[in-house]
Parts: sequence; C-alpha cells; structure tokens
Amino acid sequence: MTEFMITESPTIVTTDIADSLKADHGGGVPQFPGLIGTFMGRDALTLAVSFLGLTENDTVMLPLYTCKDVLKSFIKRCRVIFYDIGSDLTIDPDELRAKLRGKDHVRMLLITNYFGFLQPYRKEIKKLCAESDICMIEDCAHSLLTEGSGDTGDFSTYSLRKILPLRDGGGLRINCNGEWPNPKYRHMLSSDTLSFLAWAKSLLNIRSETFSRARVVSHTTQAIPLPTKDNSILPLSRFSRRRMKHISLAEVVKKRRDDFQFWQNVTDENPALVPMFTNLPIGICPLGFVLRMKNREFLEARAREEGINLRVHWRLDATLGSECGTSHELSRELVTLPIYPELEPREREVLAKLVTCQ
Ligand SMILES: Cc1ncc(COP(=O)(O)O)c(C=O)c1O
Repeated sequence: MTEFMITESPTIVTTDIADSLKADHGGGVPQFPGLIGTFMGRDALTLAVSFLGLTENDTVMLPLYTCKDVLKSFIKRCRVIFYDIGSDLTIDPDELRAKLRGKDHVRMLLITNYFGFLQPYRKEIKKLCAESDICMIEDCAHSLLTEGSGDTGDFSTYSLRKILPLRDGGGLRINCNGEWPNPKYRHMLSSDTLSFLAWAKSLLNIRSETFSRARVVSHTTQAIPLPTKDNSILPLSRFSRRRMKHISLAEVVKKRRDDFQFWQNVTDENPALVPMFTNLPIGICPLGFVLRMKNREFLEARAREEGINLRVHWRLDATLGSECGTSHELSRELVTLPIYPELEPREREVLAKLVTCQ
C-alpha cells in the first residue's frame, strides 16, 4: 500500500504527476493546467481513491448529502462514516471533530462545494484534517469555475461536464506531496465510444432517467458493456479534449450567472418561493438555481407534463445515515432549476410560468 504524506501547507506538485499521466493519456485538459483529465467526476474520485490506496480496513468520512454514485463508489471499497450538513448546506468543523472522536483509521474526509458555493469553513476543516493526518478531498463537481474552488483540498475533483457544454469530462488536481502509484487507465476508445453514445442520445432527445446522460456514459452501470470490470480509470474523451480548446470560460460564467439572476427575478415575484441562495457574490459560478419547497412534487409533475425533467439533488436512500436528519430533509425538499447550457428558451418560458404560479 502506498504511504500518503500530507504536508501542512501543500505545495502544488501537480505538474509532475499530471505531466507523466498526461503523456500516457492523450495530453492534459486544455485551459486547466495541472488537471488530470478523466471521463466524469466520479472517475476523478476513483483516481484519488487509487492514489490513497484505500482498503476495506480504512474508513472515510463523507457528507450523506451527495450524489448516490459517489456514495456507492466508496461504500464498495471501504468503511464509511456519514456526517450531516446544516440546512444552509454548510459543513460544520465542530460536527466533524465530534464525529472523528475515538475513530481510528480515518484516512480521508470529503467536503462538497454545493451548487458552486464554496464551503465557508473549508480552511478550518483542512486544519482539522492535517492535525489528524487525514487526507481532505474537496469535491468541486459543482464549482469548477468558482474562484478559489479546489485550492484547499489535498485532492480536488471536478466534473467538467456539469458546468461546461461538454458531454463528458472530469478532473483531479493534486495539491500535496506523495508517492504515487501508476493507476490503470482504460483505452481512450472506451471514452470516445461512450461520449459518442451520449451525443447520439442527446440528438434523439431521450430524457428518461434510466437512459440519462450519466447512465449512458457511466461505466458503473450495465447500460453499455465494457471490456473490463476492474477499477481502471476512464480518461477524458478526445471529443471533449478538442472541444475544451474552443470554450470561452468567461462566457460560460457570464451566461450561468445571468440565468441564475433570471430565476432570482422570477422567484422575487412570488414570496412563497424560498431560494436556497439569495445572493450571488462575485466570483461564484453556480450549478443551478436551487429552490426549497415543501411540495416540490407538484412543480416536478407540472414540468414533466411539459416534457421537462427537473433535477433533484439528491434523492437519498432513506436507509442510509438515518442520524443525518438535515440531509434527508434537504433531499426531500430541494429542486434545481436549470441554467446555461441546459436552459433552452422554451424551457425558460414554460418553467418561469410554472414557478410564478406555485
Ligand atoms: C457533488 C458531486 N460530486 C461528484 C459527482 C460525480 O460527477 P459525475 O456525474 O461527473 O461523475 C456528482 C454528480 O452528480 C456530484 O453532484
């Protein structure tokens, strides 16, 4: 097993590691120096786990409130302690400290920058991790283009495809020293094929959950048989790598912020609606516009009648982490309104009408 050394103040050693990986796997990620490109955000997490050499005897701490596929990938590999978050989506270092008390073998703690907003206590959490010799992963799947995103974690993981107009894309940044194993990668052709199928699916406008983009491209489902079933990593596809060169990041940030402000104006007209974030400070690039609703099913059903599937982050398994009451409550009440590049003019119009008459 590889020993993992966390330094108090991490030096960015990414370039060496990323360069050696890049050489083998088709080059780095255009516009994101030091990022190791993967097919999706979950592949970046898998890569971080493989660098850490986690075994079934190791324990990791995860927020219960996160994507099911992320939870699954850890539950399969090691012991998991879930922690709860606040109703404003913040992670409290005191809650983590209390959870850590008396626990041995905690190797990794994951925090999430929900919906593009950075965790306000991330530096305190990093300090707590450093004191306990725990590696901190900062999950930036939602916060790729938010200023300062990924600067705190020993590892930072990203989902390019959630923020940029791409069919696939994830990434890992390593901000600490260590001795790194050489992870196994799948052939680029696997990524290219999956990316192509995701594109075909979007052309056919297939919207069902069972055939959703994540499921089409996911190598963890049976949707598309792949040659290997081991833990090897899917790299970023050549399609996305090429496309990345032509994306204006400034324009993406602007469009996403503009759409967020559009929903802000729409919801301002109806005091019964409770946005999760009432302000959009400078430097934040949001994932979507999140509403907290006691009866979101009604809005979801009306939107579905109009052919629009609203996203819910996340429908948690009720049997997991029953002590994490706030996470379960958020799971029942939050709904995410789409923004660029997912918000099309017709959807904007239809949804705006539905939202205002809630
Ligand atoms: C917070 C968070 N982390 C990681 C992931 C995994 O990203 P991807 O879907 O690109 O694998 C997701 C996906 O929903 C997510 O919401």
